[in-house]
Parts: sequence; C-alpha cells; structure tokens
Amino acid sequence: MLKKIILLASGNGSNVENICRFFEHDDNIGVLGVFTNNPKAGVLKRIIPFGVKGIVFDRTRFTNGNLLQEIKTLNPDLIVLAGFLWKIGPDWVQAFPSKIINIHPALLPKYGGKGMYGRHIHKAVKENNEHETGITIHYVNEEYDKGDFIFQTTVPLSNQDQESDIANKIQLLEQQHFPKTIASLLYKDIDEI
Ligand code: GAR
Repeated sequence: MLKKIILLASGNGSNVENICRFFEHDDNIGVLGVFTNNPKAGVLKRIIPFGVKGIVFDRTRFTNGNLLQEIKTLNPDLIVLAGFLWKIGPDWVQAFPSKIINIHPALLPKYGGKGMYGRHIHKAVKENNEHETGITIHYVNEEYDKGDFIFQTTVPLSNQDQESDIANKIQLLEQQHFPKTIASLLYKDIDEI
C-alpha cells in the first residue's frame, strides 16, 4: 500500500462506509483504521464487511496526546474527518500539516463553527429559505471549519424541500465527491513519485 488513510468518525458512518468501499480494491490506497470517540457509533458496524479495524478512544486519550502518538506511529498519509465532532487540537495540526481534511455539509463559510453539524445545519438552511446548499471539503487548521478549501459543490433547494430532503441531497453529494476528492489528493502525490 503506497498511501494510508486514517478515518475519524463520531456517528452513523455513511461516509466512512463509502470511503472503505471506494478503496476496497485499490492497490495503492487503503484505509488503515477507523477511530471513533463513540463506542455506540453505527460506523463500527459499517466497517466490518471491509475488514477495517475500528478503534474506540475516550476524551482523556484524545486530549492527553496518547491518541495522537498512536496515530503518528501508523504514519498515515491522510487523516480524514468523516462526521467527527470533536475539535482537533493544534498539536494534531502541527504533527500533520496539510494532512488532515474534513467534510462539512454546508457551503462554508456559511453555517460553520461550533455546534454547526449535521441536522443543525440542515435546519438552519431550511429556516433561512436558502435556494441552495452544498458540501465543503477542506483542510483542518486550528479553527473550526476555517481551513483552506479543497472542494466545494452546490445543490439547488426548492421551498418544498424539508430538512430530511436537504439531508438526503447532502448525503448524495458526499457519496459522489468525498472518496473521489480523497483519491485525487493522494494520487497527485503518487503521480509525483
Ligand atoms: C456528514 O453529513 C458530515 O458532512 C457531517 O456529519 C455527517 C456525518 O454523517 N459533518 C459535520 O457536520 C462536521 N461539522 P455520516 O456519519 O453518515 O458520515
């Protein structure tokens, strides 16, 4: 395996599942493991068919540096936050410059920051009668949802769209674009070797 991905997730895991499926038969890129802060997260079940290892950690291990140390020893080429809700510390950003990316289910800089995740975003988008929404894939820096953009795309909304419709549209965009964006980042490196 030339390029190794580590995934961090907190919940359902539809993005993690997609990424695992996308790279399942890729000889160059593979998923080393999925780290989650939530022992009940659906993501742990979703990765079983792919034989990908799931690792649960708690707040202490996350904040005292032990988890970062463990991840450093795995030497990943990319750390992907796929529905991961804890804030990444500056020690992580320094240890992995331009190697941590996040997906956000909105058109940043709108609907970003603390507390803005998942359905909270779709609710706000609906309440504001937005005519479009979308996804942003970006590098992670010290501030929530503020890192440089890698990819952004939009989807139109109609007045009839309810929160659940918005969520479905976003999930579709995530499925279409997240694994491909990860592949293009890593293949750019491979092509330069
Ligand atoms: C995804 O929509 C992702 O964009 C979002 O959480 C969802 C996780 O779904 N992330 C954030 O809101 C980060 N601020 P999943 O667990 O099914 O992949």
